[in-house]
Formats: sequence, C-alpha cells, structure tokens
Amino acid sequence: MFSYKYEIFTSVIEDKVNKGVLLKGERLPSIREIKKEFGLSIVSIQSGYESLIMKGLVKSIPKRGYFVDKDFEYSIQASPKTFFPISRDVDFIHNLELTSARNKSSEANSFNNAVPGDVLIPQKLILRTMQNIIREKGASLLRYYPSNGLEELRNLISDRMRKFGTNIHPDEIIITDGALQALYIALRSITNEGDVIAIESPCVFSVLEVVASLKLKIIEIPMDIQNGFDINYFEKICDEHTIKALVITPNFHNPTGKLMSDSDKKNLVATSAKHKIPIIENDIYGDLYFTEQRPTCLKNFDDDENVMTFSSFSKSLAPGIRLGWLNAGKFFQQVEKIKFSLGRSVSPIYQELIVKLLLNNSYGRHLRSFRKKLNQQAMLLLSALKKYFPETSYFHQPKGGYSIWCELPKEINMTEFYNYCEAEKIHFTPGTTFSVTNEYQHCFRVVFSDYLNSESLVLIEKAGKKAHELILS
Ligand SMILES: Cc1ncc(COP(=O)(O)O)c(C=O)c1O
Repeated sequence: MFSYKYEIFTSVIEDKVNKGVLLKGERLPSIREIKKEFGLSIVSIQSGYESLIMKGLVKSIPKRGYFVDKDFEYSIQASPKTFFPISRDVDFIHNLELTSARNKSSEANSFNNAVPGDVLIPQKLILRTMQNIIREKGASLLRYYPSNGLEELRNLISDRMRKFGTNIHPDEIIITDGALQALYIALRSITNEGDVIAIESPCVFSVLEVVASLKLKIIEIPMDIQNGFDINYFEKICDEHTIKALVITPNFHNPTGKLMSDSDKKNLVATSAKHKIPIIENDIYGDLYFTEQRPTCLKNFDDDENVMTFSSFSKSLAPGIRLGWLNAGKFFQQVEKIKFSLGRSVSPIYQELIVKLLLNNSYGRHLRSFRKKLNQQAMLLLSALKKYFPETSYFHQPKGGYSIWCELPKEINMTEFYNYCEAEKIHFTPGTTFSVTNEYQHCFRVVFSDYLNSESLVLIEKAGKKAHELILS
C-alpha cells in the first residue's frame, strides 16, 4: 500500500526515470492529465511532484510544466580491469551466423546485417559507371595499380576530408581492400603479438576478430549510454597499464550508435597524446549522419600526429566494393609494406569507380538521399521497438549510422527469446557477440539499413510480444 495517495503516480514516474524509460529533459504529464487519469486532487498532485523534486528526479519550469531532471544511470558502468587474451576460434562460426555474415540473401528482413539493403544500394549508378570504366580503360584495368593506391583517388579522398576540417595529406593515405583490412594493417604496424590494446565495449564482432587474429590482448573501455566512451576510465587504464593502441569509432559507434562530442574528441586526443598511445580511428559511419553537419573526426584535433583514421565505402555505397583507405601519417612506411604483403594493390576497377563517383559528386548526391532514408527507417524502427517491447526496455536513439542498441529487462530469459526469434526468422545480433565479457547478456543490436516494410514491423511486434510474455513467465 502507498503511504501517500500521490504515490499512485509518482511511483510510476520514479520507476521509469530510474530505468531510463524517461530520460533527462523529457516532459512529464501535466497536472490536468494526471487528475484525469488518477482522479487525484490538484493539491495532492502538486505534493507528488514536490516529492519528486525533493528526490532530485524532476524539475519544474514555470509556465512549461514538469521535466525529468536525472541522468539515466546505465547498468553497464565499468568493464573488468583484467586483460583478456582473445582467442575466439570456438565462437567464430557461431558468431558469423548470429552477426549476419552468412545471412541468406533471400531472407526478407534482416535486422542483423549491417550493410545497405539491396534496394538502398545505388545499383544502377554503380553498374553503369563500372561499364563506362571498362569501356574507357579496357585492358589497362588488368594491370597492377600502385600499391598505395591511385594518386587521383588519394587526392580526391584528401580533398573531400579537408572540407570537413580533416587534414590528411594524400601521400599519407593508403588504399585498402575495405575498412577491416585497414584496421588490420594499422594494428599490425604498431603492435606485436601479446601486446595490450584498448577497445570500446561493446565492440563490433568483426573488429574483435581482427584483434584476435593478431593475437593481441584487450581491455574493454565502457561506452556509457548517456555519456559515450568513458575517457576517465581510459585515462586510468593508461596510468596503470602499457597500452599499445586505442581502436575507436567516435562517429555513430557500432553497435550503440553513439556520437562523441567535439569537446570529448579533443579531450581524448590530448589524453592519448599525453600517454603516447596511438589512436586508430574508425570513421566508417561518419558520412551517415542525421544531424545538420557531418561530424568531425578525432584527426581534426590531432596536433601530434598520433591518430590514424580509416574508412571505407562498404556502408555508404555497397559492401561488395572492396575499397577502404587508411591515413597512416607517420606510420606510412610500415603500413605500406604490410599492405603490399597482403596482396599488393586494390582491384583497379574499384579504384576507378570511386574516382568517378567522387569526381562527378554522384557519391555526395547518393549520400543525401541515403541519409534521409536511413533516418526515416531509424525513427520507424525505434518507435516500433518502443511501442511493442516492455516499457522497461532501453533503446538508444541514434543520430546516424546503422544500429539501435537495445537492453531488455533482466527478468527475461534471453535464450528463450532468441530461440523464439530464430524460429520466426527474426534476426537480431545478441549482445554477447560484442564483448569477451558477459556484460551484454540482455542487450542486442537492431540494424535499420535494410529496407523496412510492414512485414518488418510485424516481426518487431511479434518479438516484442514474446518479450512481454517472458517477463510474466
Ligand atoms: C565498425 C565497423 N568497422 C568495419 C566494418 C567492416 O568494413 P569493411 O566491409 O569495409 O571491411 C564494419 C562492418 O561490419 C563495421 O561495422
């Protein structure tokens, strides 16, 4: 029983704020709305709100109403301090299936495949441009191209990044077969087997696999859902351990979708430089922003040449175009040697393709409509998740990129949940694939880069209903 009548509504608000269902700044029901719903007197409702203000959960803004005033404390606060030598051979095949790498292309809806769905790829543009290139260049496409990549391509990438304040000299760029290869090369150029590196936690499965194949050890730095990458925690780790590199995705991190603020970017670059820890920056989602402007890179704040930035066109154009780039900076010589040993140069047709798409700005035009579509899909999926899943679930609203990170209430048996989803062909990526710890048992990633239709929403509804059932069972 409640001690005060008003607790009938304050307990609901308190619970939602503590569980992150209501976030800081959200407007709370007006006195009139509460009166209508709970039949309480105005004085009682005011006393109720007073009690929430006293607890530091709510604030009142004159003439506007009551608002949540407490930051949500995400349950994953800190990650273990132990080094995890990651050797994931046993998990590899299992994770490939869960994380999509083996999805059948015939399956209608995939919420686990972090690539643009077939209808969102500018197929006509790409294929027509490739045909023109074959006609123009003919047999010269069958030769080796320079091992660091075509000069024209490196110039275009450098010019484009300069427009966003990212100064990358074309001679310090190396063209790679996609972003993962860029990461592999960057890591190999500055680490040796057994070294310890810092990564974000959660961290996408494919990045963990690269780290594992290089036989590196990791320390996971928590991504706080409210504040993003925990720089203080990182600094503490730097003081206590010998860290050889930090691998980080500051723009629309996969899976949380978090975007790091400029002040945090500056702070992180300065902290890493102070400890002489090179940063390997993954900017693969940087072009896929829903905000007004493209976000900055860590590289923009790098006065000490301590940041290597890489990206690719896999997420922004098509994953079959195996073309990425790495700004190697002062590590260029080691990087070039490693790239050479991994297969000399990137396929000429892909290099020529990206040159053309950048030169005539069809890449920019494609991005404009692609971002709009992605934003619409993100909002559609987010509202379906909020509508159908238990209200004590948590969904992070992305400002760009591809994914929504979800946390379900702890009472849900996740094995049963995934078994049901699998039977219904609903593919989410389980949180357990994003860490070597057990921190993310109740989390999963939902990707919105495939074309969404009414069938997709029915699947979300079914999964949400199952989650409700599992809470009650
Ligand atoms: C954060 C991140 N980095 C890299 C990759 C792989 O990129 P690419 O296909 O260019 O190798 C992915 C996609 O799975 C990713 O999500």
